Amino acid sequence: MNRVTLSAYAKLNLTLDILRKRPDGYHDVQMVMQSVSLHDDVTVALTDGAEIACRCGDIPGDESNLAVKAARAFFDAAGVAPCGLDIEIVKRIPAQAGMAGGSTDGAAVLRALRALLAPELTDAELLRIGADVGSDVPYCVRGGTALAEGRGERLTFLPQAPCLYTVLCKPDFAISTPMLFSRVRLDALSNRPDTAGMLAALQAGDAVGVLARVRNVFEDVLPESCGEVFAIKSRLLALGAEAAAMTGSGPTVFGLFRDEAAARAAYEALSAEYRQTDLAQFV
Ligand code: C5P
Repeated sequence: MNRVTLSAYAKLNLTLDILRKRPDGYHDVQMVMQSVSLHDDVTVALTDGAEIACRCGDIPGDESNLAVKAARAFFDAAGVAPCGLDIEIVKRIPAQAGMAGGSTDGAAVLRALRALLAPELTDAELLRIGADVGSDVPYCVRGGTALAEGRGERLTFLPQAPCLYTVLCKPDFAISTPMLFSRVRLDALSNRPDTAGMLAALQAGDAVGVLARVRNVFEDVLPESCGEVFAIKSRLLALGAEAAAMTGSGPTVFGLFRDEAAARAAYEALSAEYRQTDLAQFV
């Protein structure tokens, strides 16, 4: 086998809390993560030579691409002789959206290289390599429902969340993650997520309890220029979403629905207004 294609799923933050600033400049966070069916297709092929080529739609396939960074990190850490790679990514997850679109591609490259070159590598080893690539990469290696702590790389995998439908809507601007972290005043954060309650609801398979605890503290520190986030959130709730929040450092807003037909109707209404709107479900 010298080629493999994997699905790289997007993620949502069911909760996002920021606990403290660390001496290394990062923040300790507490986030309940959930993967959704919206995905990129990542194909990795082994080639002769040493070049790592990456085609990724409109996104540069250079050394800044997390797929390329992941490949380099894999060869540095896995004890495998480097070889040439041809990476092709069919992008569906919007970039710079708070859905881990880059991290999930990087994680898929790690999984693909394990399958092709080092099947003996454990998940724990792959997660450790992923942590050097980006804070969300280890979570994306496994996906599903998980509590992410530390800088995002310390993971506790949870029972699969009840199956909910989601409408994801990204306004046409990007938010810089470091900029948003720099706006956080920890002592001024109020209305923190009930992470313990969310974990209990997940353990109990209680969809209503999950819906009641969706919350992202980054919404409280958004600059005024990001008002559209709240407009989309209100729109999703008016269209019948049972919970709505921004995911990660935004700007994508997601609405959650127990009923597939209600989600589809909201998707149809919102996609007429916003170019980057998707309908997905928890996976
Ligand atoms: O690790 P990653 O490259 O995803 O992080 C991007 C930036 O976001 C970091 O350079 C840091 O400024 C900020 N960050 C943070 N605390 C985290 C994760 C990211 O301050 N837990």
